[in-house]
Amino acid sequence: MEIQASPRKIAHVVKYIAKTVIPEFGIIKLKQIAQSFPELILSSCVRSPFLSSLYYAFISPAFRREHYGVVYGKLKYSEELKLAKDSDFLLRRNIHRLEKGLLMRPFRDIFARDYIDETVNSYKNALLAKQNVVLSTDSELHWAYDVLKQYFSIVGSEPTIDEARKIFLELPPLNSNNQSVPYKRDLSSPLPVNYDQFLALSHRRRSVRWYLQKPVPRDLLDKAIKAATLSPSACNRQPFEFRIFDEPELVKQVASIPMGTKGFNHNFPAIIVVVGKLRAYFSERDRHVIYIDASLASMSLMYAFETLGLSSCPINWPDIEALEKKMELLLKLEPDERVIMLISVGYPDPDGMVAYSQKKPLSQIRKYN
Ligand SMILES: Cc1cc2nc3c(=O)[nH]c(=O)nc-3n(C[C@H](O)[C@H](O)[C@H](O)COP(=O)(O)O)c2cc1C
Repeated sequence: MEIQASPRKIAHVVKYIAKTVIPEFGIIKLKQIAQSFPELILSSCVRSPFLSSLYYAFISPAFRREHYGVVYGKLKYSEELKLAKDSDFLLRRNIHRLEKGLLMRPFRDIFARDYIDETVNSYKNALLAKQNVVLSTDSELHWAYDVLKQYFSIVGSEPTIDEARKIFLELPPLNSNNQSVPYKRDLSSPLPVNYDQFLALSHRRRSVRWYLQKPVPRDLLDKAIKAATLSPSACNRQPFEFRIFDEPELVKQVASIPMGTKGFNHNFPAIIVVVGKLRAYFSERDRHVIYIDASLASMSLMYAFETLGLSSCPINWPDIEALEKKMELLLKLEPDERVIMLISVGYPDPDGMVAYSQKKPLSQIRKYN
């Protein structure tokens, strides 16, 4: 099936049905009423989730891009299951679920019965696709292999599991050191960072808007990204990408799109667009996870920058159709690829000031039980 056409076709059909049920004139009228009496319409729509869905279907297009991205992502997820590619979201998720089974206390003799079949098939697809490629030992496939190998060596016997075990054992083994499996951390040596040092780092990091006009070495950017990739993500999917721009003309173009950079975007040495991928999910229920996972990684990224002598500023990306279109064109984004935020980065100008930005006291920000 042609992926570009499918969601659009669906949209056309839905529009056709909507126009048949509520003719064009009715929709225009509804919009006029909504504009004239916004509170009346809103207070009617809050009466039920269904009415609010009608509001967003016929009166406000505010969620249109998100809906489209989610539908597109769902389709892409199922289409990608059949493709061979660098990284597979289903495989990542299921291997992680196996890891959790392997470290469960007390250990259960039988687990993963309902998803081991799809996991082994997805592993098999990935393996076949990479037949002639030399895999690095830190690859996703090595991790999957090690975990599957350990799983099948200790899980009990059950028809579905035995069938999957047979398929796995017939596949060519990887030259692996069997290390990518659950392990006990060495907690005996002291952590090289103590609380006071971490607090000092947290105080040092500020949103910095003024930078020295000096290029940012790519090895430093990569080092920071390496630290950021160690951040937690739901089922270890890591459904995001850091799109880095350090070529001055491109930096200018990208940095001038968001609204929150007016007056200072001309001095960014580099800018990062954090992009989430909704194709990581089979269901709408996970649509918010791109924002959570990418933000956690972005925070680590900004701390890592500080340790490398760099500073940064997160930049807001509200869902504004005209700006979304500009970014989509410039970055060649697919509909399920959603910008989460941008981050400017560079060597801080020591003469540039930062905002005081008073933080909330404990009493306002935490509650026990
Ligand atoms: C999601 C997010 C969006 C932000 N957007 C902007 C922005 O568009 N422009 C800007 O100058 N600062 C932006 N900031 C920076 C905030 O203004 C800043 O984090 C806040 O005032 C606290 O200051 P601090 O980061 O120095 O602690 C953003 C921060 C976050 C987390």
